[in-house]
Amino acid sequence: MSSLPSSSSLAIVLSLLLLLSCPGTIAADGQPPSKPIVTPITKDPFTNLYTIPVKNGAPLVLDLAGSLVWSTCQQGHRTIPCKSSLCKVANRNHPASCAWSKIGGYPGNADPRCACSAYPYNPASGQCGIGDLTVEPLAANATDGKHPLFPVSFNVIGSCAPDGLLESLPSGAAGVAGLSRLPLSLPSQVASKLKVAKQFALCLTSDGNTGAAIFGGGPFVLETGMPGPADFSQGQDSQLPLVKNPKNGAYYFRVHGVAVNQEQVPIAPGALDLDARSGKGGVVFSTTTQYTTLRSDIFNAVVTAFEKATSVFTRVKPPPPHNVCFETSAFTGTAFGPGFANIDLMLDNGRNWTLLAASTLVSVGTERYCFAFQNMGSPASEAIDAPAIIFGTHQMEDNVVQFDLEKNTFGFSGLLRGARTHCGNFNFNVGSS
Ligand SMILES: *[C@@H]1O[C@H](CO)[C@@H](O)[C@H](O)[C@H]1NC(C)=O
Ligand SMILES: *[C@@H]1O[C@H](CO)[C@@H](O)[C@H](O)[C@H]1NC(C)=O
Repeated sequence: MSSLPSSSSLAIVLSLLLLLSCPGTIAADGQPPSKPIVTPITKDPFTNLYTIPVKNGAPLVLDLAGSLVWSTCQQGHRTIPCKSSLCKVANRNHPASCAWSKIGGYPGNADPRCACSAYPYNPASGQCGIGDLTVEPLAANATDGKHPLFPVSFNVIGSCAPDGLLESLPSGAAGVAGLSRLPLSLPSQVASKLKVAKQFALCLTSDGNTGAAIFGGGPFVLETGMPGPADFSQGQDSQLPLVKNPKNGAYYFRVHGVAVNQEQVPIAPGALDLDARSGKGGVVFSTTTQYTTLRSDIFNAVVTAFEKATSVFTRVKPPPPHNVCFETSAFTGTAFGPGFANIDLMLDNGRNWTLLAASTLVSVGTERYCFAFQNMGSPASEAIDAPAIIFGTHQMEDNVVQFDLEKNTFGFSGLLRGARTHCGNFNFNVGSS
């Protein structure tokens, strides 16, 4: 596995993407004025994965760490020559767990009939497959950040996958939308195809409501309980740096410490750092991990501090996979409020990501609230590129989280409840701007 492509190979990819634009779609490719696109996000209650219906209405699973867009293909799908530089780019970030195939679709194969293969990866099952690199038509709506405006169709380079690779994904899902910072991810291709900013924002709902994703930057407006809708996108000055892991395309961010009720948890210096050489450690965002998962040394320190801070509340036996649970009746309105054992992730620039009860606890059945963090344990934490912390979706829910692939920064709104709204409040009625 090697690191980022050089700018010259990026330029080749971009020109190939243009060449491969399929004529005859209702394409708004490059049609001015270019606008960001919006798509609903649905949470699957069985797998707790999130999907966007961009493949002719068929859902693709959101994978923040994924390097490709992939789905099952039909007979007669388009293929890409092995000798094209696109084939090289598609195979540059080969998933560590995927064995190389001995069949012929490898990059650089000079046979003019050779169709390029790619290695789609299923983040839920950990399986990978092999499939033809192809051209996939996708669709969404243009947006002004307030509502959908008009439908937009565009093509991306994606990978075909065998039907079996859909295992462990939500029923009806057609594949995966990789959202990584790499050149063939969905946000990278939307930016080049639709000539919009190389950014995206996710608002994941915690319940059965429909969340929203916006690709291409701009405002992110939600209806609120206060008069009028409000924009929850974060300006450049409140963005924080992302950290690049040379071993993968996922989004890492710096955490300097963890505090429970403002008291810093004793964690060894450097325990949260990413080792740029090995790709091990660090704190990474994941849309395919439900509860934030901590390496054992960190988990043990945090859970000890949390138990101490909450010792007055009545415990009940935790059902697996949970570790600490409380009786629901132990919480009065005030105890469950902002004063309840906040967890601060201490970030760059003196900023904190403060996790309130809604993010640190999860309701399990009707009578229990459980600590919504998990112990990574072994062997996961011994894996070659195991992060120190995987920041999961329960903690990202009901926040607008933005990723800027150009500036390499991220932003977060904080829990939307504070503004009396939630991720289900994007207005999906078509409007005009
Ligand atoms: C555009 O938005 C409308 C209204 O929400 C929806 O019915 C339609 O399916 C969307 N089109 C695409 C291509 O996503
Ligand atoms: C961030 O969290 C730490 C630990 O709880 C606290 O000491 C510090 O005051 C917080 N900073 C801000 C700006 O809230």
